[in-house]
Amino acid sequence: MAGDPHPPAPLLHAAIRIIEVGPRDGLQNEAKAVPAAAKITLVDGLVSAGLRAIEVGSFVSPRWVPQMADTDQVVAETRHHGGVEMPVLVPNLTGLERAIAAGARSIAIFAAATESFARANLNATRAESLARFADVARQARAGGLRVRGYVSCAVHCPFEGWVDPGEAATVAAALAEMGCYEISLCDTTGAGTPGRARAMVLAAMAAVPAERLAVHFHDTFGQALANTLVCLELGIAAVDGSVSGLGGCPYSPGATGNLATEDLVYMLEGLGVETGVDLDALVAVGAEISRVLGRDSTSRAARPCKACLLRSAGDRADQPDR
Ligand code: HMG
Ligand code: MG
Repeated sequence: MAGDPHPPAPLLHAAIRIIEVGPRDGLQNEAKAVPAAAKITLVDGLVSAGLRAIEVGSFVSPRWVPQMADTDQVVAETRHHGGVEMPVLVPNLTGLERAIAAGARSIAIFAAATESFARANLNATRAESLARFADVARQARAGGLRVRGYVSCAVHCPFEGWVDPGEAATVAAALAEMGCYEISLCDTTGAGTPGRARAMVLAAMAAVPAERLAVHFHDTFGQALANTLVCLELGIAAVDGSVSGLGGCPYSPGATGNLATEDLVYMLEGLGVETGVDLDALVAVGAEISRVLGRDSTSRAARPCKACLLRSAGDRADQPDR
């Protein structure tokens, strides 16, 4: 609180779990088809770089999101990686059937805090989509699958503007009730700033324990890292990132990519927080997918000259800034 003479001590955890969403959130909005082989190489590279939770694709309608139509192939050819959580996005029971047939063991369901985004993204009212997700979660869990949840538009909606944190918390609580092991709170448009991120996360933490929450920031206005840090200082210990800052939602006009995983890892290394991710290897993976897409990475930490400069000065993880 502004002017508080005794502000609470930061609750930064010693280790942060990173959920890499590049192969799904990062690629779903690409206009040009990305070959399945390139997606599989991307997932393999992310595993080699140390990521232990990677969202590999989605079983949504291929009419709505054609880029994800080959997720069955990506799942089939990456599921051998032991010890890596590999959720796939599932919008309904048809998607769940496809996910199970492909061999997925973990899914993610994605509800919206606002009515308009539920209609645009899921062709259903918010209540209809929650009822649908409750069925999906029940059947998935009965079949032994793990279920993660998202709350889209937890901060801002492309159609309704700023979102009441209480609305996002209500949807997070509904997903927790469905048995989601983790609920990711999303700034879908990337419009949020740290004060709004803080208010949103505090409201969610009043409804769902912090250990079951994650954050997911798009970086449209360059706020994703600052927003993430505020949430980590409030006790959040899981963060979604996208290699090279890839991404965007086809149903969130104007929103750009997610927080770049490289930037997140660089910041956490500097804070002395463990991630299990090898930044150099991750930068190489980001460079390769950027080459495939024919575009520069938006990660700042991935800029080689900066990384090399710091590394040659022996000035990185071994000297954390706290
Ligand atoms: P609908 O058109 O209302 O579906 O779409 P329907 O149930 O009326 O079915 C129409 C046809 O689609 C039928 O085929 C179904 O079988 C088929 P037909 O009989 O006409 O031949 N169909 C499917 N086919 C394959 N897989 C399926 C499937 N479902 C139906 N799963 C639906 C409703 C929910 C399917 C559609 O709205 C949809 O797929 N939405 C997903 C959109 C999406 O993927 N958005 C991006 C991901 S969310 C995101 O990026 C946000 C996030 O990152 C967090 C954040 O940042 O906020 C997670
Ligand atoms: Mg997203």
